Amino acid sequence: MSGPSTYEPKTGFTKWLDARLPIVRLGYDSMIDFPTPKNLNYWWTFGGILALCLVIQIVTGIVLAMHYVANTSMAFASVQHIMRDVDFGWLVRYIHANGAGMFFLAVYIHMFRGLYYGSYKAPREVLWILGVVIYLLMMATAFMGYVLPWGQMSFHGSSVITNLIGALPIVGPAVKTYLLGGAAVGDPTLNRFFSLHYLLPFVIAGVVILHIWALHVVGNGNPTGVSVQDIKKDTVPFHPYYTVKDGFAIILFLTMFAVFVFFFPEAMGKTDNSIEANPLQTPAHIVPEWYLLPFYAILKSVTFDIGPIPAKLLGVLAMFGSILILFALPWLDTSKVRSMRYRPLARQLFVLFVLACVGLGFCGANEPDAFVFKTGKDRLQVEYSDANGRAQTKFFDQFSEANAYKESLPTAAGASLQVAESGFKWKWLSQILAAYYFIYFLVLMPLLGVIEKPKPRPASIADSVHKRSGSGRSSSAPVAAPQHAE
Ligand code: HEM
Repeated sequence: MSGPSTYEPKTGFTKWLDARLPIVRLGYDSMIDFPTPKNLNYWWTFGGILALCLVIQIVTGIVLAMHYVANTSMAFASVQHIMRDVDFGWLVRYIHANGAGMFFLAVYIHMFRGLYYGSYKAPREVLWILGVVIYLLMMATAFMGYVLPWGQMSFHGSSVITNLIGALPIVGPAVKTYLLGGAAVGDPTLNRFFSLHYLLPFVIAGVVILHIWALHVVGNGNPTGVSVQDIKKDTVPFHPYYTVKDGFAIILFLTMFAVFVFFFPEAMGKTDNSIEANPLQTPAHIVPEWYLLPFYAILKSVTFDIGPIPAKLLGVLAMFGSILILFALPWLDTSKVRSMRYRPLARQLFVLFVLACVGLGFCGANEPDAFVFKTGKDRLQVEYSDANGRAQTKFFDQFSEANAYKESLPTAAGASLQVAESGFKWKWLSQILAAYYFIYFLVLMPLLGVIEKPKPRPASIADSVHKRSGSGRSSSAPVAAPQHAE
């Protein structure tokens, strides 16, 4: 895509260096002269924003690590020391903590952009897969980072998640022990999480280099989904056109970031994490940070066993499956048309998919048995054990009837009378949304490509493609209107 290099070293030094290590040429070809489609919209600015987020996290993280102590007796105090005693320590910490949320916000926009415009389709499969690897690494890094301040949520959250890993068959218990460095979350855990939290961002940086390398081989996609036909006519050099556009988007993004850092620095955090970890006192609600909530909801949505597989294991498999499924996306989508601009039905199902992901986020933040909304009037329930010791429940509308029934039961039944609220529970909503999540990828995507009728390509694009195939420069057969993927 990038074509032959147009870099010409001008000074004696750059000529000398270019003959030995053409690093300036590499930078020039990939960031100055790189031919970029003319029609990229603002959704394409998030790649640059993400690169900036990664740099911000690494720089602020290194400064924090200079003052942080990875020891359970001092970690919490060392964070307080950073916030109160270290010059601008509060600023560095708030940038790092809020930066994690902003990083995920940007990555979700970047991924949804990819889904909408079919950026994962050929020839960008490897580019997409490298993106999913980055996303997995980001989740692992964020999870481990959250443990470091050693607050209540750090401790109890990490206990919950590592227990889940322990639920995996065969390898689970061993992986859990290696991760924790013992039987429970403690000093060895904090030490290894700190070590990995420091290491992983550099691994991410390495994979980002591969990601951008892959991008520069196949070139950017664009909102029409039709590949660039004529490099001269359809593209402009990256600099100054996209450096200015990306720069403008970065300024807007940083402004929003600054509003959080300076005015609502704790908005994304949990107050429980301002209390030092106490293994003997479990917080009322253990919930992860907002960006992991949809997956947490999928995990909790499985409340039933299937045959010999217990609900807990099924939940863990569903949660990991919901992320790993992204690797298969380029092959699950059978449509020949990349961009949903020309796929009206796919677009509607995509909107539902985005709503399902947001809805799952809300489900993850709420107790599974709490009500999304209540219906009808509350009933009364008598709970007791039958002669075989099995738990039984009987419902009543009248107090007198319920009480009479309870009194009629033998003392050994241990009967109790309670108000039974009726309504729609969060766990049911999460089950519906989780089902849609999987159906979207496993059923709708493969099916749509076969049954949908895409809109024809606008004449301006069709002409350009036909001219190209007619000119003999392309080996592909002349294209029918809906074949957008050329
Ligand atoms: C640290 C994280 C990441 C960085 C720094 C990054 C960087 C970039 C950059 C600079 C671009 C080109 C500009 C643009 O299209 O916005 C790009 C494109 C792309 N990225 Fe990422 N990315 C990251 C994460 C991801 C993730 C998590 C995915 C998907 C799972 C992904 C998938 C893609 C795809 C498919 C493209 C090509 C889009 C197209 O041109 O149609 N990236 N990325």
